[in-house]
Order: sequence, then structure tokens, then C-alpha cells
Amino acid sequence: MTPDQVKLVQDSFAKVAPISATAAVLFYDRLFEIAPSVKAMFPADMTEQRKKLMAVLAVVVNGLGDLPSILPAASALAARHVSYGAKAEHYPVVGAALLWTLETGLGEAWTPEVANAWTTAYGTLSGFMISEAYGRPQAAE
Ligand code: HEM
Repeated sequence: MTPDQVKLVQDSFAKVAPISATAAVLFYDRLFEIAPSVKAMFPADMTEQRKKLMAVLAVVVNGLGDLPSILPAASALAARHVSYGAKAEHYPVVGAALLWTLETGLGEAWTPEVANAWTTAYGTLSGFMISEAYGRPQAAE
């Protein structure tokens, strides 16, 4: 990501922060609409889950300018997701729900540049998580 893209992601996320509780509801509603099969993987009461998601997103967004600082946490998050039943093919679906939520929450502030920056940010994070969780060559090390 370029420094400009990092700033676009950070500034746009700051605009969503005041409505983060609503954004989290929108996100999971959208996710379960476009991927109904994943709903059963989540707890019935999503209150804590929504808070945890927004807290981790804030940490990631803050850390984008210094990626090495967030990689250990992202790696651990990826490993926990294997035990939740997440598969590599779920990540693009989660990304689509996330981008849709940001677009909905930001309205006119969702410009092509912002969309491109978020697409790159999610691609970087999810690509790393997928390779940590599923991509290690079996015979290596
Ligand atoms: C970059 C993408 C993602 C981020 C940032 C993220 C973030 C989180 C966070 C912060 C939690 C709370 C628990 C914890 O910290 O371990 C969580 C739980 C969970 N995530 Fe994700 N997640 C992502 C992708 C996915 C994907 C692709 C799936 C697949 C469907 C998924 C399914 C779940 C489930 C089922 C739980 C809850 C399990 C439980 O509480 O029993 N997540 N996620």
C-alpha cells in the first residue's frame, strides 16, 4: 500500500468510527445475506462479536503504516479462524461484505480512490491471513 492509500483508509475509517455499532450490524446482516451458510458458525448472540470485530479492525487500520507491527496478531487471528471453521474461500465474501458496509456508511465519501485503498488493504490482510492459515507448504521446515 502507498502512504496515500494508508491515509485514505485511516481517514475514512475515522468517519465510520462514530457509527461503528451500526456498521457492525450492517456488516453481519450483509454477510449472512450473501453467505447464509456461514451464519451457523457464529454465536447466536452477536453483541460481543460485533465489538471484537470493530476493535480488531481499528488495530489493523492504525497499524497499516507499520505492517510488521500487526503481522503477529494477524497470524494468530488467522490461526484462530481455522478452529472457527473459516476456509480460504470465505475471505473474499467477508471482504465483499466489509466493502459494502463501508460504502453504505460513507456515502459520498466512498470515492473510487477510497474504494481502491480499502480493496488493497483487505487484500493485503486477507492474503496474509490465508497464507498463514492454509498456505504453508506441507514439506517445508
Ligand atoms: C480479515 C478478515 C477477518 C477479520 C479481521 C476477522 C475478525 C474476527 C474477530 C476479531 C473475531 C473475534 C474472535 C477472535 O479474535 O478470535 C472473529 C471471530 C469469528 N470470525 Fe472472523 N474475521 C475475519 C474473517 C473471517 C472469515 C473469512 C470467516 C469465515 C466465515 C470468519 C468467521 C468468524 C467466526 C465464525 C468467528 C466467531 C467464532 C466464535 O466466537 O465462536 N471470520 N473474527
